[in-house]
Amino acid sequence: SELEFSLGEIALEGYEHYMQKEIAEQVDALSTCMNGRIDLAGSRVVLGGLSNYLRDLARVKRIILTGCGTAWHAGLIGEYLFEQLARIPAEVEYASEFRYRNPIIEDGTIVIAISQSGETADTLAAIEQAKDRGAPVFGLVNVVGSTIARTTDAGVYLRVGPEIGVASTKAFTAQVTVLTMLAIELGRRRHLSQSDAHGLLEDMLNLPEKIAKALKLSEEIKRIAKANIDQPNWLFLGRGLNYPVGLEGALKLKEISYIHAEGLPAAEMKHGPIALISEGMPAVFVATQSSNYDKIIGNIEEVRARGGRTIVIASEGDEQIADYADHLIKVPEVREPLQPVVNVIPLQLLAYHAAVLKDYDVDKPRNLAKSVTVE
Ligand code: G6P
Repeated sequence: SELEFSLGEIALEGYEHYMQKEIAEQVDALSTCMNGRIDLAGSRVVLGGLSNYLRDLARVKRIILTGCGTAWHAGLIGEYLFEQLARIPAEVEYASEFRYRNPIIEDGTIVIAISQSGETADTLAAIEQAKDRGAPVFGLVNVVGSTIARTTDAGVYLRVGPEIGVASTKAFTAQVTVLTMLAIELGRRRHLSQSDAHGLLEDMLNLPEKIAKALKLSEEIKRIAKANIDQPNWLFLGRGLNYPVGLEGALKLKEISYIHAEGLPAAEMKHGPIALISEGMPAVFVATQSSNYDKIIGNIEEVRARGGRTIVIASEGDEQIADYADHLIKVPEVREPLQPVVNVIPLQLLAYHAAVLKDYDVDKPRNLAKSVTVE
């Protein structure tokens, strides 16, 4: 059964802001999110809300993920994971675009809607569209009993408790965690070997501890934020799974620090945005160990050669990358498909510290609402 929370009970508990509290809470929130859902001995995942559907889900031809903002970023990670781990064609769609594009939904297509609040109007409209066209729709929602939780055929709750800060943090890491669990389970029902699944699940159970370690970087990241706070334009670059992580880092900075930031696949930079690079412009590279590590080193060099200031997120064991970084942030390493949940932590902290340094209202940024109930 799911826990219900009432807003009146949510105190800051010694933190200065809800966002700060919610960033810190990710250690416990992800434990709760995974609690009872990972059967390590059997190398399987147990998602109660989907148990009647998993057999059919493992046979679908195509998965469409949809959501807005941060939830869309989680969906992009889901797209990569369903393809890699389950070998199911997947694509993420902005809910607002999907709805009005007269989308082609064939037999064998299912839709997964992702939403913290469960009330986002654009996402709801996309769900209605998908349902009208006969697609089964599943929800990944945080708020229990919300409209999206009720209007979808079935789903998985994130179980991270109320998220008060407008900039989403713990809901994002939980969305990614649930998508990863689902991709592993669908993979197990298809081609993913028991030993590969076992290794991934073992690493997942270690995620809270790795996040706790990443949270200790806070003071170091505050210094980096301070050193670069006057820069008006930032780039966030990554490849593969680190590309959506970069997008999320850029969104956090925009939302609460009002600093212009753009996230890009690192290699796309040379096809245009590289023209933006000027002396001292911060470029945040998410460059942990991965299959395209050597390629991203090349991209870092391209930025440095043009005077950009590189802020590099790298794996703890990486001894070579210091030569390429003006600021280096080392995060704990996990298996590559799980790394996004760890890598996003320093980016959440970076945006948080930048907003605090600028003395902005971290939890209630201008022009934004926690849940947008108009299309
Ligand atoms: C709003 C919020 C974003 C959020 C998006 C989707 O625009 O400001 O932070 O990512 O809605 O919200 P949802 O509740 O559907 O995840």
